[in-house]
Amino acid sequence: MSDKKTNQGESTIRDIKLAPNGRQKIEWVKPHMPVLNALHEQFRRERPFVGKKILMCLHLEAKTAYLALTVKAGGGEVAVVASNPLSTQDDVVAALVESGIRAHAWYGATEREYFEHINQGLNFEPDYIIDDGGDLVATIHTRRRELLGKVKGGAEETTTGVLRLKAMDKDGQLEFPMISVNDARSKYLFDNRYGTGQSVWDAILRTTNLVVAGKTVCIVGYGWCGKGVALRARGLGARVIVTEIDPIKAIEAWMDGHEVMPMQQAASQADYFITVTGNINVINKDHFLLMKDGAILANAGHFDVEISKPDLRELAVSQRVVRPNIEEYVLKSGQKVYLLAEGRLVNLAAGDGHPAEVMDMSFALQALALEYLVKNNDLEPHLHKVPEEIDKRVALMKLESLGVSIDNLTPEQERYLAAWQD
Ligand code: ADE
Repeated sequence: MSDKKTNQGESTIRDIKLAPNGRQKIEWVKPHMPVLNALHEQFRRERPFVGKKILMCLHLEAKTAYLALTVKAGGGEVAVVASNPLSTQDDVVAALVESGIRAHAWYGATEREYFEHINQGLNFEPDYIIDDGGDLVATIHTRRRELLGKVKGGAEETTTGVLRLKAMDKDGQLEFPMISVNDARSKYLFDNRYGTGQSVWDAILRTTNLVVAGKTVCIVGYGWCGKGVALRARGLGARVIVTEIDPIKAIEAWMDGHEVMPMQQAASQADYFITVTGNINVINKDHFLLMKDGAILANAGHFDVEISKPDLRELAVSQRVVRPNIEEYVLKSGQKVYLLAEGRLVNLAAGDGHPAEVMDMSFALQALALEYLVKNNDLEPHLHKVPEEIDKRVALMKLESLGVSIDNLTPEQERYLAAWQD
């Protein structure tokens, strides 16, 4: 890839000439996002975001682009920055800039460039933010505190971001309201489980071109994402081992039919290791040396801290790229292990993220959470749930788009559920 990067008006992107390809990618996802289509149409008519500046820190690929265009259709002035240096698709970003959206991002940004882009995005002085992983919120509350009076609220996309927000809120440090989109049922039950389940395997399969059937897969962490990745591993014909620190989730994994054991024991048994914990160093030097020759390591958590890269480098006598997105580490003991996508979230760094039909619901929630924030400017500076009406509305819109209808409670049934005297 060319190393060219350009200033395009106020934007800093790879190359505006990539836009036609990006436009094509966006056109492909639109018909598969019917809920967002309906909101796009509604926002175009009602213009709820006129006069508002919205900064999004998200994985910059086609589905995200359609969210940004939907908010713009509602009259908002929109800017985007990346939420991971390896998930940015430069052609999609170019298409956004061509459509009048400001962008600061390119694929493969160094850590310094990544935070420079976030700062450039914040120079836009947003009224509202959409965050994925918490980097915008953290930057505003630490290095860009002058924006605290300006930013009126935001929404967070992912489990890791919500964990950071919960910690901030508990410490009384959150200075504007944030809505936890991740915790809506129409988000985590589908995006985290079926979205991650499919997109992680899509990325691993296209990156490695190896068989999964008959192999042993170790899923590290059995939250909603881990459940989905384990489910699809089973579907691909793998023997599945789950490692957990939560006894309840461990029983769930067991009763879902998976083997459960500590990492120390799983390390020598698996052919694939997939981390989905949101925690640090869950695979480390205690484990690498026990692994089979040829073991494949991938991370599906937000940050590249789950598989300890410092430990891996310390144990390695050599390191080289053997195929795009596959690094081979030869360990002192002689065995080779393969790290996918530098240990960054594999489904976006080595794939295109979740399927469009799934992101349809997640991004519809984001769009409606934003509209809710604009309409309710008196929310307390805490972490808020997505209102139940919005969660249900997105699910009903999805069902309608699928041509599926469901029953309603009869008045008698409603009375029965509400009664306690009988
Ligand atoms: N595409 C855009 N954002 C995403 C996310 N958070 N997870 C998976 N795919 C995505």
